[in-house]
Amino acid sequence: MNFLRHRLLTTLLVWIGMMLAGLFIVMLQLLPIYEDAEDKSDIWMLLFFSLVVALVLSAIVGSRVIGVAIKPIENATETAMELVKGNYVARASESNASNSIELSRTINVLARNLQEITAVRVMEQERLKTLIENMGSALIMIDKQGAVSLVNKPFLEEFELTPSVVMGKFYKEIQVPIEVENFIESVFMTETHSRVQIEFLSGLKLKNFNVYGAPVIGEHERWLGIVIVFQDITELKRLEQIRKDFVANVSHELRTPVTSIKGFSETLLDGAYKDTETLLSFLEIVHTESNRLEMLINDLLDLSKVEQSGFRVNAQPMNMEAVIKRAREMIQPKIDEKSIHLKLEIQPINVLGDANRLIQVMMNLLINAVTYSSNHTEITIRLFRKDNRAIIQVEDQGIGIESSEIERLFERFYRVDRARSRNSGGTGLGLSIVKHLIEAHHGQVEVDSTVGVGTTFTIYLPLAI
Ligand SMILES: Nc1ncnc2c1ncn2[C@@H]1O[C@H](COP(=O)(O)OP(=O)(O)OP(=O)(O)O)[C@@H](O)[C@H]1O
Ligand SMILES: [Mg+2]
Repeated sequence: MNFLRHRLLTTLLVWIGMMLAGLFIVMLQLLPIYEDAEDKSDIWMLLFFSLVVALVLSAIVGSRVIGVAIKPIENATETAMELVKGNYVARASESNASNSIELSRTINVLARNLQEITAVRVMEQERLKTLIENMGSALIMIDKQGAVSLVNKPFLEEFELTPSVVMGKFYKEIQVPIEVENFIESVFMTETHSRVQIEFLSGLKLKNFNVYGAPVIGEHERWLGIVIVFQDITELKRLEQIRKDFVANVSHELRTPVTSIKGFSETLLDGAYKDTETLLSFLEIVHTESNRLEMLINDLLDLSKVEQSGFRVNAQPMNMEAVIKRAREMIQPKIDEKSIHLKLEIQPINVLGDANRLIQVMMNLLINAVTYSSNHTEITIRLFRKDNRAIIQVEDQGIGIESSEIERLFERFYRVDRARSRNSGGTGLGLSIVKHLIEAHHGQVEVDSTVGVGTTFTIYLPLAI
């Protein structure tokens, strides 16, 4: 509206100026004639005509003045106002009016600079946000008053919080474990870099974190607050524990047969060999224990081989029925020993697999089924096809497994009842080897068991096309 008013006012002024000038000139011309004339109507006509000419002339000149001098300034002002509003894409038109082109150009340069600066700032903010949200660690920033100024999603998820209960709150008010709160406090008070390992209960799970704290220093070395980063090392700790357990288990498993071999052979050397009966019975024990030792070493070697990340099986189309029958043949003596009835429900199916490895898998499952079943029970082996996969089941009527134990069953050295399993001669490596072998076949293994009723191991394998 302002521009319109300016424009009208300027036009009016130019008009009036022109009219007055025109009138003045005409009057000057006509003044001598006017004094003598009888009929003055011609003079009035002339006067009127001059007035009209003056009006037209002033309108033309006025609008030209507006077009050349005022419009570009208006346009530049409008653009400047748009820029103030934050619309950095607005541009002034760079017309040819020499007095305003410089202004328009400068405004456009300013606009372009502002647009670029804003784009860079937005991009940097986005980058920083993406980095903070996806850094894989929980992060919290606390300002110098002790209020939370920034948290990322992992932090909120880790401590089950929402932005509204955290942002702007004093750090002691937010619900984090006391160990975390104490660490924040120590960094806040000392304003120094610090690192600590924290262990706390999150729900029912024990969690381990490497926590780093550092002061945030702004321009002119001004202290702005602190930042704390939490790196979840629970899984690392778990793996470290498994490794420790593994070393302890291996040492223990090796020591038992070695101790007994050493003990019995020493007794024999001390003179017991003279009694043939003792000699035979001790040699029998030494033999059994060295077999156990050999089995354990073989299992360990096998496990370390199948656990290698690059382990591959030589998978080819093969007859699964033949594999099952071969495994059965090999454990037939054990089956007969316990008078177990073995039932086969087999469909002729070809799978993609390594025959020798699958015989090893079937033997492990069958030996378990026999070992953990009573005499005169039944074991069923099934082979059928479902949803483009081959399914193999080994079902027994044995002692069964508690559901709480099933999750850990495939861990190395894991045995449900250590004492009983050791008596059965097992080492607890069989099922972990089975799992690795089946996974190397791109298959799966599942367990379904009821204590006192029996156990079913189910294997899924890819079909041979
Ligand atoms: N069919 C089954 N019925 C009941 N418990 C079983 C069965 N199969 C496995 N288990 C339990 O799972 C544990 C782990 O089995 P796994 O085959 O890995 O070890 P193992 O039989 O003790 O020793 P080995 O390494 O000689 O096979 C066993 O100790 C046993 O407690
Ligand atoms: Mg076993």
